[in-house]
Amino acid sequence: MFWIFFVLLIFSTGDCILIGKRDNNILIGNIYKSLWNITQNQIKSTPSPSTPSSSTTTTTSSSSSTTSSSTTSSSTTTTTTTNPCISGNLLWNKTGITVLGSTSLLVPASGVFLNANDTLYAADEAGYFVVWKLLKNAINATIVAGNYGSAGSNSSQLYYPNDVYVDRSGNMYVTDMGNCRVQKYINGSKSGITIAGINSSAGSALDQLSYQRYFTFDSTETYMYVADAGNHRVVRYLTNSTSGTNGVLVAGGNGPNNTNTSLNTPFGIHYLPSVSNDLFITNYDGHSVIRWTPGASSGTFVAGVPGVNGSDSTHLNTPMGIKIDNYMNMYVVDFANHRVQLFCANSNVGITIAGNGSAGNSATQLNNPRGIAFDSAMNMYIGDDVNGRVQKFMKL
Ligand SMILES: *[C@@H]1O[C@H](CO)[C@@H](O)[C@H](O)[C@H]1NC(C)=O
Ligand SMILES: *[C@@H]1O[C@H](CO)[C@@H](O)[C@H](O)[C@H]1NC(C)=O
Ligand SMILES: *[C@@H]1O[C@H](CO)[C@@H](O)[C@H](O)[C@H]1NC(C)=O
Ligand SMILES: *[C@@H]1O[C@H](CO)[C@@H](O)[C@H](O)[C@H]1NC(C)=O
Ligand SMILES: *[C@@H]1O[C@H](CO)[C@@H](O)[C@H](O)[C@H]1NC(C)=O
Ligand SMILES: *[C@@H]1O[C@H](CO)[C@@H](O)[C@H](O)[C@H]1NC(C)=O
Ligand SMILES: *[C@@H]1O[C@H](CO)[C@@H](O)[C@H](O)[C@H]1NC(C)=O
Ligand SMILES: *[C@@H]1O[C@H](CO)[C@@H](O)[C@H](O)[C@H]1NC(C)=O
Ligand SMILES: *[C@@H]1O[C@H](CO)[C@@H](O)[C@H](O)[C@H]1NC(C)=O
Ligand SMILES: *[C@@H]1O[C@H](CO)[C@@H](O)[C@H](O)[C@H]1NC(C)=O
Ligand SMILES: *[C@@H]1O[C@H](CO)[C@@H](O)[C@H](O)[C@H]1NC(C)=O
Ligand SMILES: *[C@@H]1O[C@H](CO)[C@@H](O)[C@H](O)[C@H]1NC(C)=O
Repeated sequence: MFWIFFVLLIFSTGDCILIGKRDNNILIGNIYKSLWNITQNQIKSTPSPSTPSSSTTTTTSSSSSTTSSSTTSSSTTTTTTTNPCISGNLLWNKTGITVLGSTSLLVPASGVFLNANDTLYAADEAGYFVVWKLLKNAINATIVAGNYGSAGSNSSQLYYPNDVYVDRSGNMYVTDMGNCRVQKYINGSKSGITIAGINSSAGSALDQLSYQRYFTFDSTETYMYVADAGNHRVVRYLTNSTSGTNGVLVAGGNGPNNTNTSLNTPFGIHYLPSVSNDLFITNYDGHSVIRWTPGASSGTFVAGVPGVNGSDSTHLNTPMGIKIDNYMNMYVVDFANHRVQLFCANSNVGITIAGNGSAGNSATQLNNPRGIAFDSAMNMYIGDDVNGRVQKFMKL
């Protein structure tokens, strides 16, 4: 089990001790240390951290992506995406375009999100401990939450932010993993309110979280569903909470297991009630995807072989981000296989739509990809963590 590696960091001002579990061995730990060192250097050498410069490479590729996406949106004012699983439909261009991050400014993105205006948000988990925002036609990103390079637990800081969501009113939500809390930023504010994980202390009470990862919202944005990885459960919270009150257990909570009554380190989660009443959850340590009706006592495995890792088309290895589309096709970020798998509705056979299966930083490769999001034209964005970038894959 060489992939189980724990990074133990005790942050002096926080109660929550981070147990960052990565699929790789000590190499990943070194990469994280390197990122931190880069961060320190950047802080010293960047006088204006809120507008970090992009490298020429990033600027060039961003320009081309900007051009392509504006062409797409102006030629198709109403989004007419077709089912990618109908025979003959093309999928995604496997050559990715870097839209955020560069060799001079790594953005080790975890969760990514696009709002209705195709504004991209990315949770920079361990590079700068911030959330980046990139407007649709922009080249340079700005920081909208967190203190640049300063991890911590006060109201303006984040500590290993994992996922981000912005509601219709412009309020932003961030799963602040290292602080075991979910922060809400009222439209435009850089000061977060803790709405889940009341005292930033890891625990299993219903007002506590344990190294939660990704989250998903219902269509009215009344509730959020948090993948509470360390507690092997999914907990539902009201989004209008102001004080981190109790959540409601909706899935798992029986300890880790690969049976259909348990979750095994839930990481990614997606809920699309217009398509299904079930939550779609990735089991990071279970190498599987399970669908689960909120409140039910068991779920149904829909992808991967529970408890067994692998790299062929029916296996996964430590899956992270997940999305379903309007046709119930499922997109799974297969972290340790460095690829994105598409499972057409009712199929457990994956089709690789991004990444070539080996870790690397070429345009056709990924290195420990994490989060996934789509824009209004179904272009796909992947948080390409170890490469320190967000890759965009154009829908063909
Ligand atoms: C990070 O910086 C510290 C202090 O300068 C140094 O001791 C350490 O070796 C560096 N780590 C890496 C991975 O470069
Ligand atoms: C992006 O940032 C760079 C460096 O600060 C700057 O030179 C460039 O003008 C910016 N580009 C845009 C479109 O704002
Ligand atoms: C995919 O993207 C690459 C690089 O941007 C481009 O050269 C190629 O023509 C694209 N392929 C298709 C089928 O659009
Ligand atoms: C999208 O852009 C429009 C026009 O700039 C703005 O009024 C609206 O608030 C934006 N929507 C979101 C979700 O940010
Ligand atoms: C949080 O701590 C950072 C680093 O010490 C500091 O720069 C920032 O002003 C603090 N924010 C608040 C709201 O106290
Ligand atoms: C957020 O606040 C800004 C400034 O007050 C406003 O222009 C914008 O429309 C708001 N966004 C949303 C989505 O309401
Ligand atoms: C945090 O809250 C939990 C549950 O409410 C409680 O058991 C624990 O003592 C609290 N910890 C701190 C440090 O306040
Ligand atoms: C929060 O939302 C719930 C569900 O819509 C509602 O019943 C409750 O009154 C709201 N609370 C506040 C403080 O707005
Ligand atoms: C997992 O489930 C199996 C079968 O129900 C059971 O025998 C085993 O004790 C469970 N393991 C844990 C850790 O709960
Ligand atoms: C869970 O597994 C049990 C036994 O294999 C089965 O009877 C049950 O229907 C499954 N639950 C769901 C929701 O698929
Ligand atoms: C897959 O799981 C086996 C058994 O737990 C483990 O020995 C192996 O290292 C894992 N392989 C990868 C590539 O993670
Ligand atoms: C993936 O692409 C890289 C770079 O082109 C290549 O070196 C590597 O062999 C490819 N891996 C696989 C499994 O095809």
